[in-house]
Amino acid sequence: MDKLTVKDIDLKDKKIIVRVDFNVPLDDHLNITDDTRIRAFLPTLEYILKQKPAKVILMSHLGRPKGKPEEKMRLTPAAKRLQKLIGEDVLKLDDCIGDAVKQAIEKSKQRIIMLENLRFYNEEEKNDPAFAKKLASLAEIYVNDAFGTAHRAHASTEGITKHLTSVAGFLLEKEIAYLGRASKNPKKPFVVILGGAKVSDKIMLIENLLKKADAILIGGGMAYTFLKSLGKGIGNSILEADKVAIAKDLLEKAKKAKVHIELTSDFVVVKEFKDPSTKKIVTDIPDGWSGVDIGPQTREKFKKILSTAKTVVWNGPPGVFEIDAYAEGTKEIATYLAALKGVTTIVGGGDSAAAVSKFKVEDGFTHISTGGGASLEFLEGKELPGVAALKDKK
Ligand code: 3PG
Repeated sequence: MDKLTVKDIDLKDKKIIVRVDFNVPLDDHLNITDDTRIRAFLPTLEYILKQKPAKVILMSHLGRPKGKPEEKMRLTPAAKRLQKLIGEDVLKLDDCIGDAVKQAIEKSKQRIIMLENLRFYNEEEKNDPAFAKKLASLAEIYVNDAFGTAHRAHASTEGITKHLTSVAGFLLEKEIAYLGRASKNPKKPFVVILGGAKVSDKIMLIENLLKKADAILIGGGMAYTFLKSLGKGIGNSILEADKVAIAKDLLEKAKKAKVHIELTSDFVVVKEFKDPSTKKIVTDIPDGWSGVDIGPQTREKFKKILSTAKTVVWNGPPGVFEIDAYAEGTKEIATYLAALKGVTTIVGGGDSAAAVSKFKVEDGFTHISTGGGASLEFLEGKELPGVAALKDKK
C-alpha cells in the first residue's frame, strides 16, 4: 500500500485515536452474534500496545441511529468483547466528544478507551469539520483500521485526517492488499461469482470486472433480471423491471469483451416462500413459482468453471442461504471453494462472508473481507475516501 501504516511512525507515549469498525450484529438481548470485526482488529491493537502509547482511544459507529442516542446501539457490548479478547481492561465512555470525555481519558487508569457510538451525532455522517476537530483534539495520532467504513467520507474517517498525522492499521492494509491484488492484477483464469438480490447493486462491479475477469457466474436474485432480459420465464421470482435493459446491455458487453457469463440454468423454486415443503427443482420456472436457490445442474456448471480458476472473487450468495431449506446451493459452492487448492479465493464481505461463517468453512479461504459496501466499492474500482485521506508513503 502507498499509505503510511502504524509501523511507519513513532507511537511511544502518544495518544492514539483509532477508527475501528465495530458495527457488529447484535441479537435482541444485545449479545454479539459475530465478533469477526473485533477479532480482525486485534493484530493492530496488539502492535500499538507494544509500542507503549500513552492511550489508545477507539471510536466506531454501530447501526444507523440517525443522529441521536439509541440504547440498543451503544458500543458497550463491543467494548466488553474486546476486553475479553485482548485480556486487558477497556474503559467504555458514554460520549465521544467534549470536556468530560477529555477528562475521563486523562484520568483513566486503563490504556484502552472506547468512545460511544459516533453516529449518536448527525455531525459524524455529515463530515462536519467542527465535530472532526473535536474528535481530533482527543489525541495526537490518528489510525484508520475501519476497512468496513472506508467507503464513507465521515468525520471519523475523512474529516479528522485534516488535523492529525493519519496512518493505516494492519486490517485496512491487509484488506487493500488482498482485494487490490485480486481485482487489479489477478492470476488468471480469474472467475467471479456474483449473487444477492439486486442487479442494481452490482452494475458498476460487473462493468469493472468485464475488464479483468475470464468468467462471471451469476446466481441469486439478480440472475432473474438477466434471464428476463433473454426472454426467459421467471415466474414470480424477484425482478428489477427497470434494470432489464441494463442487464441485456451488460450481457452484450461481456460477449464483446469475451468474458464468459454463466447464468443460473436450473432452479430450486417454491410456490410459497414461507412454505419450503412446496420446494421443487425445475429448468423452466412455472407461473406463480419463485426461485430461491440455484439447482444441482447450475452448481455443477459453476464448479466446473471454478475448477479452472487461479483467482476467485465471491460477492453475493447464489441462494437464500439464511433459510436452511434454501441454503444447499450456497453451501455447496462455499464448501467447494474452501476446498480448492492453489487458488486465491477472496470473499467480498457482507452476505457471502456471513454464508462462509454459517457453513464454518472460513479456514479454506485466502481472504474474507470485513467490509460489505466497502469491498464492493473497492472492487468497482472506486477510490475509498477513508483510504485516500491517509498520509502517503514518500
Ligand atoms: C457496514 O456494515 O457495511 C459498515 O459498518 C458500514 O455501515 P453503513 O452502511 O451503515 O455505513
